[in-house]
Amino acid sequence: MLLDPLGRPLRDLRVSVTDRCNLRCTYCMPAEVFGPDYAFLPRAELLSFEEIERLSRLFVGLGVEKLRITGGEPTLRRDLPDLIARLSAIPGVRDLAMTTNGLLLPRLAGDLKAAGLVRVTVSLDSLDPQVFGQMNGLGVSPQKVLGGIEAALRAGLKVKINTVVKRGVNDAHLTELWRGLREFGPVRFIEFMDVGNHNGWNLESVLPSGEVLARLAEDGPLTPLAPAQRGEVATRYRDDAGHELGLISSVTAPFCGDCTRARLSAVGVLYTCLFASRGTDLRSPLRAGASDALLREQLVAVWSQRRDRYSEERGEQTAARPKVEMSHIGG
Ligand code: GTP
Ligand code: 5AD
Ligand code: SF4
Ligand code: SF4
Repeated sequence: MLLDPLGRPLRDLRVSVTDRCNLRCTYCMPAEVFGPDYAFLPRAELLSFEEIERLSRLFVGLGVEKLRITGGEPTLRRDLPDLIARLSAIPGVRDLAMTTNGLLLPRLAGDLKAAGLVRVTVSLDSLDPQVFGQMNGLGVSPQKVLGGIEAALRAGLKVKINTVVKRGVNDAHLTELWRGLREFGPVRFIEFMDVGNHNGWNLESVLPSGEVLARLAEDGPLTPLAPAQRGEVATRYRDDAGHELGLISSVTAPFCGDCTRARLSAVGVLYTCLFASRGTDLRSPLRAGASDALLREQLVAVWSQRRDRYSEERGEQTAARPKVEMSHIGG
């Protein structure tokens, strides 16, 4: 088994397929930075579906079992179901998921499911139109996202919900959100993190998961659940009706010790941490005709030298370091 120097196996690959998005969430792609003139990547720079499939096969050969498609917003990539079909056909892939804002699911959910997608994680930060409109930067209503969630469920996809919590922004109505969304699938509350270089992160705007739990527990008892597998990012609970709650506490309770995730950007740069400053370019060797054996050797070299544990080392100085943008590696 391929292990990094801290004993962590390579199990998950997260593949970003575009750096574009149809929202401008303040904590990810703030509209002041990602404005109308922002230069997104030209199409020729992006890995083709053939290239993504080839690399994914190599990763699976090294122990990857879970693939997650991310962005930016992955549904903006043209012909996405064709990529899903290629990836779902790789022997050894046990789980194929996608992180999305849900807006285009009414159009795409059926084709994605037919192509072999198993589940989607939909981001939704508030059910209050004012608050959500402000957080997504474009005034888009929560109803639009709910329409996407319903379309996914109708198509037979499993659904999880991700909510990023910012103190003083969307933390006033967390119980309403939990009550309103838990019917659809597990709801996970994520501590606001210092990803990228533009989201104005500071510790005061993080609402610790412990507080989220205390507030939700006022609504009814929550029972802790044992981790389903190693490397799980969410601490899970269930309510008396069996609905699942997840708390993702990268700031107050880092989970680097079990981090089994590699991330491939839309242009083919491999990152071994969400907060990395640098990655390894795989597109150049790929396009220069490198053999599978050579590419495999590169992947092994990167993973066997990987010592990342950013969230465990986080402090003011690390937060100020230049980091890869979330829109390049999708969280
Ligand atoms: P499941 O397979 O459904 O458990 O998904 P997941 O929890 O691996 O993936 P998801 O994309 O839903 O992760 C939820 C959020 O947790 C992400 O959007 C990030 O904000 C955060 N997260 C995921 N992986 C990491 C990680 O490796 N490090 C840190 N610090 N945060 C992470
Ligand atoms: N902190 C925490 N989570 C974030 N996400 C994006 N930016 C941040 C951040 N700064 C989450 C989104 C989505 C996933 C892609 O990552 O809400 O669920
Ligand atoms: Fe787009 Fe997701 Fe980033 Fe929001 S968090 S701007 S939906 S990529
Ligand atoms: Fe993994 Fe980096 Fe997140 Fe730690 S901070 S869990 S090493 S991605």
